[in-house]
Amino acid sequence: MTMKNQSNEKQASKANHYLTVSDLDGDTLLTLINRAIQLKQHTKAGLPFRPATGRTIGMIFEKPSTRTRISFEAAMYQMGGNVSFMPSRDLQLKRGEPLKDTARVLSRYLDCLVVRTFGQEIVEELARWSEIPVINGLTDQHHPCQILSDIMTILENKGKDIRGLKIAWIGDGNNMAHSWIQAASRLGFPLTLACPEGYDPDEGILKAARKEASAPILLTRDPSEAAEGADVINTDVWASMGQEDEAKERKKRFMEYQVNAKLLRLADPKAIVLHCLPAHRGEEITEEVLEGPQSVVWEQAENKMHIHKAILEWAMGL
Ligand code: CP
Ligand code: NVA
Repeated sequence: MTMKNQSNEKQASKANHYLTVSDLDGDTLLTLINRAIQLKQHTKAGLPFRPATGRTIGMIFEKPSTRTRISFEAAMYQMGGNVSFMPSRDLQLKRGEPLKDTARVLSRYLDCLVVRTFGQEIVEELARWSEIPVINGLTDQHHPCQILSDIMTILENKGKDIRGLKIAWIGDGNNMAHSWIQAASRLGFPLTLACPEGYDPDEGILKAARKEASAPILLTRDPSEAAEGADVINTDVWASMGQEDEAKERKKRFMEYQVNAKLLRLADPKAIVLHCLPAHRGEEITEEVLEGPQSVVWEQAENKMHIHKAILEWAMGL
């Protein structure tokens, strides 16, 4: 999607956009997570929940997706609504139609937009002009929906207030790390990130989050330090979408940041392991850990659908 000929004339509309974790206060984030836990039970009990009847969401995706796409689609269909999936190459955006025109036109047809793209400025520009909520389904800088399903999974498994849990992030200071940092700040839990030199999270995001945080957000080069006594170990791919050219170099630089049995032994014996997926076995995580008893990744993937129901309900005011 191009950012050419864009303008800053208009302020973001009043719709319930969700572009970064920091867009919402801690209470709202927890309300969404608790609502998703409730909706999960509701779904499993086979009870109908169709508040989106007659509504349509649009999904503009410029990067591949298995989980985010299908879980949003399933969520919307189960809620009685419709989905229009729009690979960005099929839109006039590809031929240079401005984002601001696209946003205003789609606002006349649809009730919500879920967008997966490269730059954060693209979702910001869409939100600026859109009369309907814009939800960030992943950018290079943030993955705010994913973090909510991850915290939901943690609360379900650890059964306590997240503020008492030690959360570790091992690997790249990427979009997921940024959303974790903002969540730690909003929800007040301690977070330790272990990243190789040159792959730290964005300084501005870290600084802003620390300013408001009530628990420490630490950055270390040592994965053992982050894993030591942790209740939750998180990791993600070493080369994110769009960084395929760097994959070989990153593999060398990140090897000691692999989440393996040795690292996991340093964590609390009841620690759980999260990975937003897709996973690269033998790189950021071993097969043994991913398929092991402490891994909750399949539940975590399922929870994306439940959290997306809660997000859609909130965003569209259903
Ligand atoms: N976790 C996640 O966002 O997966 P997809 O890239 O498959 O959507
Ligand atoms: N950091 C990864 C997350 C994938 C869900 C990426 O952006 O590719």
